[in-house]
Amino acid sequence: MKKAILSAKGLCKSFAHNGGQVHILTGVDLDIYEGDLTVIMGASGSGKSTLLYALSGMDRATGGKVMYNGEDIVSLSEKKLAALRHGDFGFIFQQMHLVSNLDLLENVTVPGYLDKTRSAAETDKRAEELLEKMGIAHIKKHLPSQCSGGEQQRCAIARAVINEPKILFADEPTGALNKKNTTEVLDLMTELNRSGQSILMVTHDARAACRASRIIYIEDGKVIGELELAPYDKKDEKSRETQVNAWLTSLEW
Ligand SMILES: Nc1ncnc2c1ncn2[C@@H]1O[C@H](COP(=O)(O)OP(=O)(O)O)[C@@H](O)[C@H]1O
Ligand SMILES: [Mg+2]
Repeated sequence: MKKAILSAKGLCKSFAHNGGQVHILTGVDLDIYEGDLTVIMGASGSGKSTLLYALSGMDRATGGKVMYNGEDIVSLSEKKLAALRHGDFGFIFQQMHLVSNLDLLENVTVPGYLDKTRSAAETDKRAEELLEKMGIAHIKKHLPSQCSGGEQQRCAIARAVINEPKILFADEPTGALNKKNTTEVLDLMTELNRSGQSILMVTHDARAACRASRIIYIEDGKVIGELELAPYDKKDEKSRETQVNAWLTSLEW
């Protein structure tokens, strides 16, 4: 029996626009389960990023609830919300947003030092291990500008998980990468998920969606489809792609 780690009920998000309101999310009901690699798909502009930001407390919903750990994060104080984003949640984006004057190792250790549950020595050790795992230990002294997009994204993943987040949120993490780097980044996300990391990823790339254990499809501000998949296995990739593509076609993707 899967355990819900995040639950949205009637989630709404509107933006002020041209003196009126545009309604982007219009009542999203959704459970995200612990240990899943959940993918959110939908057409460009359908509100995937808006949904991810509302679910992760990056931005506040304008209606409804998001229950996490017994609390509704929509009505949480700014201070508590910030603590949640730093402690319990990790984030990666299409653009890596690494700190340009810090080397790769420092980009990973600095947010680690801010988390007081671990000593600086433990953070250093964990950062080294993560860079090793991400295959970028040999370039740890390089600045982001000296690295490829794929290397930067792998560093951003290490940074996002340094404090052992309960949920890793990813918004189009492969959106700016070529095919080879995309595969590498997806392999790392798959591996993290296999070792127990709950992941919620937004993508419009069907290949990235194939890594999911569950895909949610949104349209017109609501969830209109959901597909459960067996855990990802490279040897089933072709049949998996066929299954996902057929499902997406049925939703007029
Ligand atoms: N801050 C904002 N103000 C006004 N409209 C916004 C804002 N952020 C997003 N939108 C609009 O919300 C819609 C959904 O955006 P987004 O969530 O980024 O879509 P997706 O990630 O699926 O491409 C788009 O039409 C976008 O223009
Ligand atoms: Mg988006």
